[in-house]
Amino acid sequence: MRMSETGLSALVSPPIRIGQIGLAGGIGPLHLTEQEKNPNFTTVAGCDNRLEDPNVARQAERITFAGGKIYGDYQSLLRDPRVEAVCIAVPHFLHREVAVAAFQAGKHVLCEKPMATHPDECRLMLQARQAAGKVGAVQMQHVGRSSMLNLRKALHGGAIGKIKEVFLSSLWWREDSYYGRAAWAGKKMMQGQWNLDGVMFNQAVHFINQSLILASPGEFPVVAGARDLRVALYRFHDSSELELEDTAIVQAMLDTPDHPRLTMVATTCARQERHMIELLGEKGRALWNGSGYLLVDGQPEVEFHDDARDFEGNMRTFNSFALAIRTGSVPITDFSQIVKTTEFIFSCYEKAGWNIKKAPWAATEHLPALFQRVSTGRVLPGELDTPPDWA
Ligand SMILES: NC(=O)c1ccc[n+]([C@@H]2O[C@H](COP(=O)([O-])OP(=O)(O)OC[C@H]3O[C@@H](n4cnc5c(N)ncnc54)[C@H](O)[C@@H]3O)[C@@H](O)[C@H]2O)c1
Repeated sequence: MRMSETGLSALVSPPIRIGQIGLAGGIGPLHLTEQEKNPNFTTVAGCDNRLEDPNVARQAERITFAGGKIYGDYQSLLRDPRVEAVCIAVPHFLHREVAVAAFQAGKHVLCEKPMATHPDECRLMLQARQAAGKVGAVQMQHVGRSSMLNLRKALHGGAIGKIKEVFLSSLWWREDSYYGRAAWAGKKMMQGQWNLDGVMFNQAVHFINQSLILASPGEFPVVAGARDLRVALYRFHDSSELELEDTAIVQAMLDTPDHPRLTMVATTCARQERHMIELLGEKGRALWNGSGYLLVDGQPEVEFHDDARDFEGNMRTFNSFALAIRTGSVPITDFSQIVKTTEFIFSCYEKAGWNIKKAPWAATEHLPALFQRVSTGRVLPGELDTPPDWA
């Protein structure tokens, strides 16, 4: 059995020969670290279109040091017969193009979130995967955490009875300068392609997906659809680079047998980052905020914690991708699951008529109280008894 330097044993043999597309930036280096320490992978190639950039060059050296090849364009990497799978960590607007080309070249694909930002693009990715007979998974590192899987099992074993309400609060903090860090940051379109880099597709996508999975019964991975959407989108940041929402307030009915109502607030304007999914049922409630909690009426609280291994990089997502390639199992973040999350978020833009209201930055200090009122009343800000004057 092959062991890595970290002493982790391999699940598959031989290891997956992977090519990393997108080397620097926020996430590429973390994927390289994962591949270096994970005995299920060997990085045989890497590619970036900015090889002259010192930061990119530093990451490229990590691959050449281990015997891998470096390319300046992804098409060349896809022609390398040693590469059997790719890990895509390029901006949103390139996900579909690169993933489809990878499938056409006969490679398996692990794509960064969001899978793509238009449902039609996701469908093209699914079709290309189908035609190639390869594995397609999305890098969503929170999916498959033991705290979440075990809570979901209890919920769908009937622990709180019928699920009536789902509340999602996904609060992030990003400075104005965050939207100037890359040309694609905060943009609706890039090079004529959908990019949709607002809070829903960039940050909250993890927890939107997680909420939909928690509320959905059935064999994992299953994700509910949504209907009867009501949406209010706002832009508080004073950055000319940000074209989309930094704050989203959404209500919907989920298409599960219980038909719970979902109320969601998401923002990058919260000084205290915090993520909480709450499910109210007939017999109690459940919370997930990184740990899972079950509060059934008249019974002691039950907690669900993560396995220590859940936090070794992105290991679960990567490992399930490796297992799917070698054994034919379904990866925990299979394309077919995540496409529902893209449909949900894209529908929010359509429902809002692509109307993103500019709101004053000073008002962000009132956002936590506003979110509380919106959640309690299950209304949009404009429908509160005393709506904010920007709503
Ligand atoms: N899962 C997470 O928690 C997480 C965290 C951060 C980013 N992401 C996702 O990862 C993706 C990349 O984000 P980022 O912040 O690292 O972006 P970035 O723009 O900072 O970096 C992207 C990298 O890809 C390279 N690149 C761009 N176009 C390319 C092309 N045509 N061919 C080859 N290389 C190209 C860039 O040179 C850069 O090195 C996005 O989809 C983002 O949403 C996920």
